[in-house]
Amino acid sequence: MNKILIKNAEIVTMNQDNEILTGDIYIENNTIKMIGQNLAQTGEEKIIDATKRTVIPGFVQTHIHLCQTIFRGRGDDLELMDWLKTRIWPLEAAHDEESIYYSAMLGIGELIQSGTTTIVDMETVHHTDYAFQAIAASGIRALSGKVMMDKGEEVPTQLQEKTSESIAKSVALLEKWHNHDNGRIKYAFSPRFVLSCTEELLKEVGRLSQFYNVYVHTHASENRAEIELVEKETGMRNIAYLDKLGLANERLMLAHCIWLDENEKRIIKEKGVHVSHCPGSNLKLASGIADVPDLLKQSISVSLGADGAPCNNNLDMFNEMRLAALIQKPSHGPTVMDAKTVLQMATINGAKAIGLADEIGSIEVGKKADLAILNLNDFHTYPAFDMDPISRIVYSATRADVETTIIDGKIVMENRIMKTLEKEVILHEADHAIKRLMKRIPSLS
Ligand code: GUN
Ligand code: FE
Repeated sequence: MNKILIKNAEIVTMNQDNEILTGDIYIENNTIKMIGQNLAQTGEEKIIDATKRTVIPGFVQTHIHLCQTIFRGRGDDLELMDWLKTRIWPLEAAHDEESIYYSAMLGIGELIQSGTTTIVDMETVHHTDYAFQAIAASGIRALSGKVMMDKGEEVPTQLQEKTSESIAKSVALLEKWHNHDNGRIKYAFSPRFVLSCTEELLKEVGRLSQFYNVYVHTHASENRAEIELVEKETGMRNIAYLDKLGLANERLMLAHCIWLDENEKRIIKEKGVHVSHCPGSNLKLASGIADVPDLLKQSISVSLGADGAPCNNNLDMFNEMRLAALIQKPSHGPTVMDAKTVLQMATINGAKAIGLADEIGSIEVGKKADLAILNLNDFHTYPAFDMDPISRIVYSATRADVETTIIDGKIVMENRIMKTLEKEVILHEADHAIKRLMKRIPSLS
């Protein structure tokens, strides 16, 4: 049996009372069994000495594209529709099985190294089985799915799907991977965005999401040109249209939601839809600044995601937390988006948003052991005297301060050493893969 005892830690629980404790965490198999002071040792457990270390719940990123990780740096300084049409879609069209696998591994390596233990991931049209294989082998917790694209202008032929094929392929992947490895891996239907999907496809996705009780993960209201096109095609704004087709419910995860009108906010609130806020991506693609303080005031579910590597260009939750806090302060005042609110968005609110609040998102007895151990003993995180650890984590700490990451009770990084991934192989193969893809796209090389 897997037994781990983390000793002498500062524990930022993120439980309902936001308790900060000092003591030990005992893990048996994948579950936190005990939290307390000087827990007894039997000699059988693996001991992690966490003296002067801070343990936090692993971050939950609710919008990621692992298939885009190898496109990092190939889509700089563009707005959404140009970025998609001239870079991202041609690159996704050029993917092969191996490039999908190593793109996923590269992204997962970065995520684990920076303390993220759960992701909501959107893949591309083809080869998604290879992303699931990477997720399975790496140990990361994930909801993932193949992107669905049965319509759209200037879409490369390789990404154009027939409605029935898109649905059949999605369902086949769902049946193979949903609840794999004891529920660590889940399927999520992933229609790309309204502009990429027919009404028929979206309606069917809504029906299947209910039938299988799985999430729908899509983009909405990210860019003003996108919204104009949606209005021209459907006569409605994104959220009202998705609601009309039966998709607005507590199983819907919407990335971005920057440009919402009051009616859309009302639908999101009333139907329990979840918003994934992606501040880094929203700034870099010049999309805008989501009105998160207002969404939170209305008790709307808002969590965080880095989006894909080519629009960020990192998958680092410390970056997203810092941006989420700072970008709101000039217009809303310094007290909005305080450190506690932001860390809640990055952990427990992410867990709630994907229906896993009983299992992850906080450090509590009975929950899964998804944890990051931070070493905050450095110039940039000192002084420590009488400091609120949450302030240190959100406003001072960086990804390099993550020392050890545990997912589902398994140590996936220990003292910065990756335990499930072969770093040198992944860097080498990821480089090879993008070189191969670029050769397939004459317009980009
Ligand atoms: N909208 C449609 N597809 C995408 C994508 O891949 N990334 C982002 N950020 N927005 C999208
Ligand atoms: Fe995205």
